[in-house]
Amino acid sequence: MAEAERKILVTGAFGQIGSELVPALQQKHGIDHVVTLGHSNVPQDFKGIVETGDTSNKEGLEAIVDRHNIGVVYHLVSLLSARGEENPDLTWDINMGGLKNVLDIARDRNLKVFWPSSIAVFGPTTPRDSTPQHTILEPTTMYGATKVAGENLVRHYVLKQGVDVRSLRYPGLISWKAEPGGGTTDYAVAIFYDGLRKKEYQCFVSSDTTLPMMYMDDAIRGTIELMEADLDFQNEGKWNSYNMAAISFAAVQLAEELKKHIPDLKVTYKPDHRQAIADSWPKSIDDSVARAEWGWSHEFDLSKMTAIMVEKLREKFGQTK
Ligand code: SER
Repeated sequence: MAEAERKILVTGAFGQIGSELVPALQQKHGIDHVVTLGHSNVPQDFKGIVETGDTSNKEGLEAIVDRHNIGVVYHLVSLLSARGEENPDLTWDINMGGLKNVLDIARDRNLKVFWPSSIAVFGPTTPRDSTPQHTILEPTTMYGATKVAGENLVRHYVLKQGVDVRSLRYPGLISWKAEPGGGTTDYAVAIFYDGLRKKEYQCFVSSDTTLPMMYMDDAIRGTIELMEADLDFQNEGKWNSYNMAAISFAAVQLAEELKKHIPDLKVTYKPDHRQAIADSWPKSIDDSVARAEWGWSHEFDLSKMTAIMVEKLREKFGQTK
């Protein structure tokens, strides 16, 4: 079959990123060109090709790749930071086991791969303002450990084994399709859900907690642009999981912005165990390497992101205003 006819496989297809990446890929390439791999979380109303399985089963994964003539894999399966601390062993198994299988299969069948990294690769010893691309990576969460290990594993497969893998260190992603699910940055999503449904939100980090964030549409567009960019890591002898930034704000700034849409919103702050994770991550990210090497730029600032989140969630909840 011609190269262009090879299909796309998305693992973790129904998680936070997959829920929005899959429709974008279906729209771009056609519904018959995108194969989703889910677990127990396939939505009833999903339209498209679904496989169920587990990426830690290498033979099962190979069979799916061969059956559908897969040429590109977006390997999104991952447990996030806060949930990861509750079950470190499971986090290691899920985040790392599948990755090695995907990379081996990609090497043997000449597949192109996308794999997400995160601001969680950074830790308390990393400079926290305008964190550079190349800096100290000493995370304290298991999630962060899997992302640093994953970046190093991927670098080997790219530079020594000839696999084309693209990767981004996503900041906190703000989106309305999937419910918040186990991340430390999820307060910036949950505030919209609770704010619109209950007009009050108890935030699990302090009001001045500042983290790098991004609206999901920017993240999806950037991901697809990175996959299409003309990059040649092997000949250059270097590989990056790219820092990627959009907006940084304190929790209270988001609350104030949201109050413009929900004037009687009440936000209180009761930091829990997730505060320490937030405090170990950067406040802002220097993504100049991504901007220079493949033209990354973001579109959504705090007010534009807040307005569209409110609009989309009101639609989702069937609220008029
Ligand atoms: N959003 C993720 C988390 O909070 C960071 O990559 O775990």
